[in-house]
Amino acid sequence: MSLLLNSISERKSHMVFSPEPVEKHLIDICMQAALLSPSAMNIQPWRYVCISPKDEVYMQVFQTLMEGNRKWAKDAPVLVLAIVEKEYLYKENMVPNSYAMHDLGMANMAFMIQAQELGLRSHPIGGFDKVQIKQIFSLPETMEPVLIIAVGFPGKEEEALPEIRERQLKPRARKEQQLMFGFGSLPAVK
Ligand SMILES: Cc1cc2nc3c(=O)[nH]c(=O)nc-3n(C[C@H](O)[C@H](O)[C@H](O)COP(=O)(O)O)c2cc1C
Repeated sequence: MSLLLNSISERKSHMVFSPEPVEKHLIDICMQAALLSPSAMNIQPWRYVCISPKDEVYMQVFQTLMEGNRKWAKDAPVLVLAIVEKEYLYKENMVPNSYAMHDLGMANMAFMIQAQELGLRSHPIGGFDKVQIKQIFSLPETMEPVLIIAVGFPGKEEEALPEIRERQLKPRARKEQQLMFGFGSLPAVK
């Protein structure tokens, strides 16, 4: 039996990327997975911008990353900027969408799992300058940059800086969860 759980459990915030370019059709597949996610009232509050080093705006976006993130993200050949639209049209007025962040998160996860299935690796990044990103893309008040997902093929761990290799090899940690209503405890996740 092929389990989606395999890709979910193999996904991790990858630290060592190969600079080898990623073909557009692979990103298209990941993007389709994201865009097919459920969303409250089917509002689809996500907006994505995929950027590669060939794009003029790449360096500007890369510079918004916090220094610690730049160290390892520099080799990732794709940066996917995930933006949330915080409001939606209701009876001719724009009103807050309280599920917008939630729905963007689901779409981001679908993107990353699909990437994993295709042999790509990913790493979500919240550590970047959101004000700068808003300026670069002239985003209106209602749109918030939330995450940058670094994407690429796995690189050579043995060539990575020791601190990056160490983070790459660190086992993933998860809190124990207690299921209620008689299901008992979950088996330990790895
Ligand atoms: C919203 C969000 C923001 C994150 N920001 C960063 C970041 O700025 N830098 C970083 O190295 N990892 C970042 N991460 C990755 C988390 O540290 C990582 O998902 C967590 O430690 C669990 O590890 P795993 O993804 O390998 O399972 C972020 C993850 C999420 C979901």
